[in-house]
Amino acid sequence: MELESLGNSLMNLPLEDRLSLLVSSYSKDVIAFSSSFGQEDQAITHAIATQKLPIKIFTLDTGRQFQESYELMDLTKKKYQLDLITYFPNHINTENLVREKGFNSFYTSVENRKECCFIRKMEPLARALEGVTIWITGLRAEQSENRANMPIVEWDEARKLIKVNPIIDWTAEKLNNYLTEHKIPQNPLHKKGFISIGCAPCTRAIGPDEHPRAGRWWWENSQKECGLHA
Ligand code: ADX
Ligand code: SF4
Repeated sequence: MELESLGNSLMNLPLEDRLSLLVSSYSKDVIAFSSSFGQEDQAITHAIATQKLPIKIFTLDTGRQFQESYELMDLTKKKYQLDLITYFPNHINTENLVREKGFNSFYTSVENRKECCFIRKMEPLARALEGVTIWITGLRAEQSENRANMPIVEWDEARKLIKVNPIIDWTAEKLNNYLTEHKIPQNPLHKKGFISIGCAPCTRAIGPDEHPRAGRWWWENSQKECGLHA
């Protein structure tokens, strides 16, 4: 199916039907969903698991996440009986990085931060997506300027696969209602002001008037992307 017409068909549907239509349209493809266990990802996991859709669910464990995030991973895995696949950073790259630059080099420059993101997220993502032809993410347009114009379905030229963002058009309100209605487990840090949650040393709580992503790499004036969705 043409991506544009698939996108148009998906836009009219609720989340569950978006995912099941995707699976039936690409029954011969390998479909994978990347979860960081944020609110968006939890909603998608719920929709995949309750429908028992044949979608590989994986997470990238950078080794630097919050204890609360690890607890949520175990809880979610158990609740939905997920065959969750966890990808870790390549040990040689990580050992060399820490040996040469120490544990917290990301605070010293954008270049050093991107190097850490590359080693701990980008390289493992490339391994996670090997053989995958459809990649599902929890991106929402509201999250940032960079994401504002992203479509529900797009061709990812760099990775040579179809990228699907099944809740790209959801507002924060719609997301929160869905999570509450279905009693979906969430990271307890959300209630403490952490809205967008990444690695512990690179995420801080935000105030009521701050942008939801203001707590990510808060010391930088960059686009605040780790490269996963640049
Ligand atoms: S990031 O690029 O700033 O880190 P963000 O936290 O907003 O991304 O998450 C956006 C989407 O990227 C998630 O819905 C998920 O699909 C993917 N993602 C981000 N971090 C991870 C991770 N650690 N493991 C798996 N997927 C991730
Ligand atoms: Fe490293 Fe911070 Fe990127 Fe995590 S978010 S991979 S700790 S720079």
